[in-house]
Amino acid sequence: MSQIKPHGGTLINRLAEGAERERLLAKAAELVKIPVNAWTISDLDLIGVGAFSPLTGFMNEEDYLSVVDHMRLASGLLWSIPVTLAVNEETAAALQVGRPAALVGESDGVVYGIIEVESIYRPDKKREAVQVFKTDELAHPGVAKLFERPDVYVGGPVTVLNRPQPEKFREYYFDPAETRKIFAEKGWRTVVGFQTRNPVHRAHEYIQKSAMEIVDGLFLNPLVGETKSDDVPADVRMKSYVVLLENYYPKDRVFLGVFPAAMRYAGPREAVFHAIVRKNYGCTHFIVGRDHAGVGDYYGTYEAQDLLRSLPPEDLGITPLFFEHSFYCKRCGNMASSKTCPHGKEDHLTLSGTKVREMLRSGICPPPEFSRPEVAQVLIEGMAQSAESVR
Ligand code: ADX
Repeated sequence: MSQIKPHGGTLINRLAEGAERERLLAKAAELVKIPVNAWTISDLDLIGVGAFSPLTGFMNEEDYLSVVDHMRLASGLLWSIPVTLAVNEETAAALQVGRPAALVGESDGVVYGIIEVESIYRPDKKREAVQVFKTDELAHPGVAKLFERPDVYVGGPVTVLNRPQPEKFREYYFDPAETRKIFAEKGWRTVVGFQTRNPVHRAHEYIQKSAMEIVDGLFLNPLVGETKSDDVPADVRMKSYVVLLENYYPKDRVFLGVFPAAMRYAGPREAVFHAIVRKNYGCTHFIVGRDHAGVGDYYGTYEAQDLLRSLPPEDLGITPLFFEHSFYCKRCGNMASSKTCPHGKEDHLTLSGTKVREMLRSGICPPPEFSRPEVAQVLIEGMAQSAESVR
């Protein structure tokens, strides 16, 4: 059975193993060290396993400028989000183009990899912010992160020597080569990917199941890397996905695996990135609903869909499935959207994120038309525990 091709045609593998790994680890000890945080370690690992194919390393200046300004790599291949390594002035001064450097965890001292330094450059962060996030306001969490980073970027191919070790839910970590194999073994010819940084509420379930009516399988692929502090923590969400699948989804048509990347909150550009990466994991289709990867009021409700629709389908290579804003309609007595429901707002059940969080924090289950009771229960317990831990 032929599977969907990775972006750029080849699934990248930059993981060193066996004697080669030992040799590189010994070599790394002699090299200039670049301290890397959890976000960069996750980018490095995702490059290493081919989730970010065709990237073989952190972007050099040419690719970076091309991605920022044209949403394409220098080769012309579609790519929407800069994947860069930021270093401070002191580290930059110790680096030299043509000399490798070691990527060392800033909090644990682990040598995660080696970079062949190809390019050392100063980004125009304001330009990057406006092009990628469509704003340079520091109130935007992605922009704030960008401006917090050190000011020099280092580009070049990488080799992964140690992989980050997840503390929890290890059994849900799969590399693209593994998910591709699993989908093939299941005989799924078409697989729809679902990105989420939230618990799966009824609206999410509705669009997933609408998609499941037309494809062979669903890859529920929650993002579990860094998210902003008011998003529900990944371990609580994972518990909620497990109970949801156990109770409401046919086992043989859904596969749960995490996406260990950081959330950028780049709206439309991140939707393109999310789609391309899911293609690398072996998905043929990708769900894009309302305000995908959005935050606050920075992006229009369907702006991500509009951007994806504007791209030549052969450049994207994965089929986006677009869904309208969905809700429970009391008169219809089911989940619906403006495409299927003739009734007015007064018949629709709508709850703001703030309201839902407030209810959960007070131990109150939102209505079952909004959230499955099993899911709400997990979220209530999770909230109570995190309140306990800050006390
Ligand atoms: S995201 O930042 O990961 O996009 P979220 O987890 O809320 O946030 O959304 C996951 C996916 O579900 C996205 O494609 C989003 O557009 C879609 N989505 C979320 N809520 C709704 C809704 N009520 N109606 C339609 N689509 C939705």
